[in-house]
Amino acid sequence: MKKIFLNLGLQPMANNFAIKSKNKQKFYNLKIKFDNKNYLTSISKIIPSKNIYNSHYPYLSSMSKTMQVSFKNLAKKIKNKYKPKNIIEIGSNDGSFIKYFNKKNALCVEPCSNLAKLTRNKGYKTFNNFWDYSLIKKIKKIIPNVDFIYSANTISHINNLNTTFDCIKKILSKNGVAVIEDPSLLESFKKNIYDQFYNEHVYVFSLISLKKILTKYNLEIFDIDRLSTHGGSLRYYIKHNKNNKLKINKKVFIQEKKEIKFGLNKFKTYIKFAERVYDSKKKLVDIFNKIKKNKKRIIGYGATAKSATVLNFCKINNKHIDYFLDTTPYKINKYTPGSNILIKKYERKLSTEDCEYAFLGAWNFKKEIFLKEKDFLRKGGKFITHVPFPGIIGKKFKNKL
Ligand code: TYD
Repeated sequence: MKKIFLNLGLQPMANNFAIKSKNKQKFYNLKIKFDNKNYLTSISKIIPSKNIYNSHYPYLSSMSKTMQVSFKNLAKKIKNKYKPKNIIEIGSNDGSFIKYFNKKNALCVEPCSNLAKLTRNKGYKTFNNFWDYSLIKKIKKIIPNVDFIYSANTISHINNLNTTFDCIKKILSKNGVAVIEDPSLLESFKKNIYDQFYNEHVYVFSLISLKKILTKYNLEIFDIDRLSTHGGSLRYYIKHNKNNKLKINKKVFIQEKKEIKFGLNKFKTYIKFAERVYDSKKKLVDIFNKIKKNKKRIIGYGATAKSATVLNFCKINNKHIDYFLDTTPYKINKYTPGSNILIKKYERKLSTEDCEYAFLGAWNFKKEIFLKEKDFLRKGGKFITHVPFPGIIGKKFKNKL
C-alpha cells in the first residue's frame, strides 16, 4: 500500500528557469509517498518525461569538480577490474564520464537533444532517446552483447522502473555488469535532505527497495560503493542472478542491515522524517527573517534544482535573496522557478562587499565551494544552509578545511 508521508507544498518544475521575472509557472502539489510492499519512496505526481528532458535541459555534470573526480576514479576502476569490451551510458549528459572510454567501444543514450549533441560532437555514437524497448532493439544491432552499463543520477528520474530494468536485463550480456548510482534514501533521511524530492526525482532509492524490484527481473546487486556525492549516494553493481562468477560482497549485507535498523522498511520512520522536515522549514525561515530584519544582504550560491524545493516550500523568494550566482551558462540571466530570483554569472570569487550571507543552494558541493570561497569566509562572510540542520556557517569552518 502506498501512503503519503510528506507534503512539500506547491512546487514549480525544478529546472524551469524563467526567462522573464514573474514568468508564469505551472505549480503542482509535491507529496512524497512510501510503498510498504516494495519499500519504494516516490513523488506522487509524475510529470511526463518528454516535458522535462527536451532540447533545453540545463544541468551539466561537468560543472562540479567533485563529480568530475568521481567519474574519473570510477572509469579507472571499471577498466582495471571489469575490463569491458564495450560500454553504454544511460543519461550520458555532457560526456563527463564516457570521455574516459574509447569512442569505438562506447555508446551514449541521452534524451535531452542539447546534451546528446555534446557527446555526438566529441565523436561518440549517441542515441537521443529515452531508455526503452524500441531503443534497445536499435542498440542490439550495433552491440548484441553489452558488457557494461553505467547510469549516474538517471534511473531515479525514470518513472517506469519495470521497462528500465527489463531493458537492462534483456541487453546485458551473460557476464555483464550494470552500475547505477543515485542519492541514498538512508543518507537523505539521516541528514534531513528533503530537497532530493522534486519533479525530476521520481524515486529516492534505498538498497532494500532496489533489491526487491531487481529480483523481478532476475537481477541482483553484488556490490556497492558508498559515495559522498549529492549528500550521500549509493553505487549499485548489478549482475544476472545466474552469474555465479561474481560473488556478493559483504558490503551489500551490511548496507541492508543498516537500512533495516534505521527503519526504512517501516512507515513510522517516514512520518518521523516528515516531522523533522517541517521543523527544518520553521528554523530556516526564522534564520532568513532574522537576517533580513537586521538589513543584511543574502545572495544564493548554486541555483540547483534541489533548491527549488527548499525555496518554494519555505516561501523564500526575491525579498530574501538578492540574486543567485551559478556557473551553468544556460541558467544565467534567468529566474529561479517559483521564487523568482535573478541568476547571475559566477565570474569571480565571492567578496564580503557582495553580501554578508550566501544561501548554499549547492550544499552538496559544500567542501568544493568552501575551499573556493575561503577568503569570503576568512573575512567574515557566512553561508546559510539547511543540511543537516538549518544554520549559519562562518569563520570557524575554515579551521576544518
Ligand atoms: P547539482 O547540485 O549538481 O544538482 P541539481 O540541480 O540536480 O540539484 O547542481 C549544482 C549547481 O550549482 C549547478 O547549477 C552548478 C552550480 N555550482 C556553482 O555555481 N558553483 C560551484 O562551485 C558548484 C560546485 C556548483
